[in-house]
Amino acid sequence: MAILIKNIKELVQVEEIPRLKVEGKDMSILKTIKDAWLLIENGTITDFGKMAKFPVDFESNSRQIEIIDSTNRMVFPSFCDSHTHLVYAGSREIEYTDKIKGLSYEEIAKRGGGILNSARLIHESTEEELIQQALLRLNEIMWLGTGAVEIKSGYGLTVEDELKMLRVINKLKDLSPVTIIPTFLGAHAVPADYKDRQDEFVDLVINEMIPRVAVDDLADYIDVFCDKGFFSVEETDRILLTGMKYGLRPKIHANELGYSGGIQVGVKYNALSVDHLEYTGDAEIECLLHSETMPTVLPGAAFFLGMVYSPVRKMIDAGLPIAMASDFNPGSSPSGNMQLVLSMACINYRMLPAEAIHAVTINGAYAMGLSCTHGSIAKGKTANVFITKPISSLEFMPYAYGSNKVETVILGGKVMNH
Ligand code: NIG
Ligand code: FE
Repeated sequence: MAILIKNIKELVQVEEIPRLKVEGKDMSILKTIKDAWLLIENGTITDFGKMAKFPVDFESNSRQIEIIDSTNRMVFPSFCDSHTHLVYAGSREIEYTDKIKGLSYEEIAKRGGGILNSARLIHESTEEELIQQALLRLNEIMWLGTGAVEIKSGYGLTVEDELKMLRVINKLKDLSPVTIIPTFLGAHAVPADYKDRQDEFVDLVINEMIPRVAVDDLADYIDVFCDKGFFSVEETDRILLTGMKYGLRPKIHANELGYSGGIQVGVKYNALSVDHLEYTGDAEIECLLHSETMPTVLPGAAFFLGMVYSPVRKMIDAGLPIAMASDFNPGSSPSGNMQLVLSMACINYRMLPAEAIHAVTINGAYAMGLSCTHGSIAKGKTANVFITKPISSLEFMPYAYGSNKVETVILGGKVMNH
């Protein structure tokens, strides 16, 4: 089945020659076609152009082709959310109140709350329960425009529960039309029974978890929470080295709580991305400039935890690319709304709308290893796109924060039904 979208007010993020990522000054240049059409065949974007050169013969052949009239509406490539923890059990709004009263993220974690709280709930849940909860979240983000999402383990913290989480993430691939990328995050927090024996827990991750994850081919990437109060640079170094031996490229949590050295150790092992980056100085920027690593910022977590904001303007002006992701998780960012991320990118990080759109599409795709197939409107790419409600301009997308501007979702070339 083919789909022809016609009378598109503006077709956004068009690429004649697809790029893997967009960096520095180029981030402010966003190619669009006004008054456009887009052709989708067999799940793939096959052609597009201006209405002035509309392929009328398609319309006469309308039995084989579904025609969608998008007058006053824009078409975007679906959002690529490269960092989430959306497989989790229950929720943690109790900690929310503690946070409002003044407790920090680290203090809550030290009291056995935080990640350990989610680990207990994961342990008590069946795979089926986890799948059902995660499907609701996947469905929600799909209708907000997300077409590809990375999901991490990390609330298991035992061999069996980490494998359980990864099995769930892999099963979701068959159950959701959203493209899903699984990441193994065994070193997310030290479980209570390893308190004062952190090195033994690191050994468990290295000697037991990583080999099992690799044998069952359950993850594409490996993550470590390399930060103050969690895992050190030395521990991260050991874990990443082993992960890489098993073919797992790093994508790590770094520099959220301090100048942890996480960015440097990530770059050392050619991480696909380093994420959070609230504490990024000149040395970290310099290190990233000579790398293939995508600096990824998570505006929802910084907003929700009231943290300092990552120096994104400085990073782009230095020539770096930036990806932005939701960090959807129950502790630091209980929202997977990439439209909100887009607004925060502009308001809190002073990104131009064009820069922010690159950050949530093509650069997010890069940070999942998906930029050959996702993240822009280019011939041959997977037809993951959304059609907006009638909107006045592309700047309206970040400007009108808090409301859903997505009207029609097309994933893998299929129109999604409510
Ligand atoms: O990305 N920073 C570490 N991990 C998650 C939070 C996980 C949690 O609190 O449950 C994050 O923010
Ligand atoms: Fe995270």
